[in-house]
Amino acid sequence: MNEPFVDVTGLTRRYVQGAACQTVLDAVDFTLAPGETVALLGRSGSGKSTLLNLLSGIDLPDAGRVRVAGQDLTALDERQRTRFRRRHIGFIYQGFNLLPTLTALENIALLLELNDAGSAAALREARLLLEAVGLADKAGHYPPQLSGGEQQRIAILRALAHRPALVLADEPTGNLDARTGAVMLQFLRERLQAAHSTTLLVTHSLSVARTADRLLTLEDGKLTERGSDLAW
Ligand SMILES: Nc1ncnc2c1ncn2[C@@H]1O[C@H](COP(=O)(O)OP(=O)(O)OP(=O)(O)O)[C@@H](O)[C@H]1O
Ligand SMILES: [Mg+2]
Repeated sequence: MNEPFVDVTGLTRRYVQGAACQTVLDAVDFTLAPGETVALLGRSGSGKSTLLNLLSGIDLPDAGRVRVAGQDLTALDERQRTRFRRRHIGFIYQGFNLLPTLTALENIALLLELNDAGSAAALREARLLLEAVGLADKAGHYPPQLSGGEQQRIAILRALAHRPALVLADEPTGNLDARTGAVMLQFLRERLQAAHSTTLLVTHSLSVARTADRLLTLEDGKLTERGSDLAW
């Protein structure tokens, strides 16, 4: 049997605010197999984004361990985690997180450049990605000059450009109309398959969740595997 690509054990994250302590993740265990796409469901505030931040090493747990490709992220210092994230992880943030001082094209090319691709090659690849989703005319726009849905599509392209082994997608089609969302989802799936990427996909959409290989639900700090009964 294949080693899991993502292996999470005992993952616990608490937020302390004044006298209140909220346990958002309570000793969560799960694995993702290489190349599989798993949907993560859960109500607003259940801790989905918190979990993605821990899987990417942006945030550290109060207890437990996150292994990605055999590497224990909790054993790395911040610099090492940043390097690891750049190379191996593509993160589609819920709030997009595009750099406002870079154009759409430069945002998409940035990780390729940081990962040692030449600048010209990185920009060429970024342009191809924009063309593939019909956004070539927005290449020179800065994020504030883009609509929310355009920013979201740029954020998807940015996360895919360096063909990361792990893609963390936080509601990647949440700001798109049904038709544009379906087109982007299809594009995302094709890229993920071509790169054999392992994917954790947060979504509130049942139609998006149905495209995944497996479903996980986060509720009251616990993660459970769901069947295919998607009534909600
Ligand atoms: N930095 C923080 N400090 C304190 N509390 C936080 C912090 N970040 C998140 N929380 C709390 O943790 C809980 C989980 O937040 P999280 O953003 O992970 O939820 P979510 O499942 O992604 O929700 P949504 O579907 O609305 O995006 C929420 O109750 C939130 O208020
Ligand atoms: Mg969230």
